[in-house]
Amino acid sequence: MGKSFNFLPASFEDFRRRAERHLPRSLFDYIDGGATDEVTLRRNVADWKDVKLNQKVMRDASQMDCGVELFGEKLAMPLVLAPIGMGGMAARRGEVQAKRAADAAGIPFCLSTVGICPMDEVAKVSDKPFWFQLYMLKDRGIVEDILNRAWDKGVRTLVFTIDLAVLGTRYRDIRNGMAGGLGRWGKLRTGLIDYMMHPKWAMDVGVLGGPHGFGNLASYVKYSKDTYDYVAWTQNQLDSSVTWKDIEWLRKIWHGNLVLKGILDVDDAREAVAVGTDGIIVSNHGGRQLDGVSSTARMFPHIAEAVATETTLLVDGGIRTGQDVVRALALGAKAALIGRPWVLALGAGGEPALTRMLDIIKQDMKTALGLTGVPKAADITQDILLKDQSWNC
Ligand SMILES: Cc1cc2nc3c(=O)[nH]c(=O)nc-3n(C[C@H](O)[C@H](O)[C@H](O)COP(=O)(O)O)c2cc1C
Repeated sequence: MGKSFNFLPASFEDFRRRAERHLPRSLFDYIDGGATDEVTLRRNVADWKDVKLNQKVMRDASQMDCGVELFGEKLAMPLVLAPIGMGGMAARRGEVQAKRAADAAGIPFCLSTVGICPMDEVAKVSDKPFWFQLYMLKDRGIVEDILNRAWDKGVRTLVFTIDLAVLGTRYRDIRNGMAGGLGRWGKLRTGLIDYMMHPKWAMDVGVLGGPHGFGNLASYVKYSKDTYDYVAWTQNQLDSSVTWKDIEWLRKIWHGNLVLKGILDVDDAREAVAVGTDGIIVSNHGGRQLDGVSSTARMFPHIAEAVATETTLLVDGGIRTGQDVVRALALGAKAALIGRPWVLALGAGGEPALTRMLDIIKQDMKTALGLTGVPKAADITQDILLKDQSWNC
């Protein structure tokens, strides 16, 4: 591990800076950026820091246990690698590397509908199950086929993302031509310059790391030439007309756990419970969809108050440290998901870097458990938070 680094990355920011140097600008911006002015993206991160923990000492901090149970699975810590479209571009066969790191850390990896590696390739990593994330496509026959394949590959937890009814405007992607508009030659020119400035990535991932299509969709996308064709096909297929009624249909064809991702409103959370979801991920898509909406840290307590006793609550958006995970648990989450942290760690140094990041998060969690007087993550309640959160301390 030490061999691959000139210095040891210690924080998310260290991994992020390293990924920024290593990845083509357009890819780094696609991962790192958010919608329009990126206000929600920044608040997602900052607002967790405002949730104040209460230090408790003399409580025997010699044995700490980060383990929890989630949807019948035992996790070594309450963390999940969130679905990331094109996450596999951050390193060669990136989702495979991420699955290996997740396995080693004892946590679930969630594969995106629009991941690079197909589910068959991810399933080959080990016998440990992975989660699958679904975007609803207009062609329901394709959706049914995808879900049958996922079931056959051992997927038992389906994350259905419901906050992409329209695609957020991302200025960085527009500038870099990731959102279209440059034309095929313009894209080629811009891409070539970007790749030439990042030769290690260009050789490792660009030249040797293919295929670069959306692996789970490859059999349905005819005549695809490059990733842009896959993006165009997918954008055309995304079904914006989805409503709560579609959950009924999904329930008929999916017999595993169903988790709805992208809820940020108390009434929506109640509706999700009413339609019979097994879990909810309170999420604003990492601030990539509608800029100006609340951070998840701020909305989560309201949603928890309304439905925490009726369903399993998870949260993502801005989780960067083990302390953030502990904060989320204290507010009522059963686990947290990380998006950018895992994919940027992968971009910084592949599986070893991601393994290191997950280890740091776990160590940070243990520090937080030890100094709030609750040695087991499963026992965390809001009692570990400072009673008066309005104190400016
Ligand atoms: C580059 C990128 C691609 C993403 N692609 C997907 C996706 O395909 N499906 C999905 O449900 N969420 C997707 N998300 C959202 C993440 O699953 C997650 O909600 C978000 O990243 C959490 O915020 P964080 O990055 O601050 O941890 C994506 C996020 C990023 C950064």
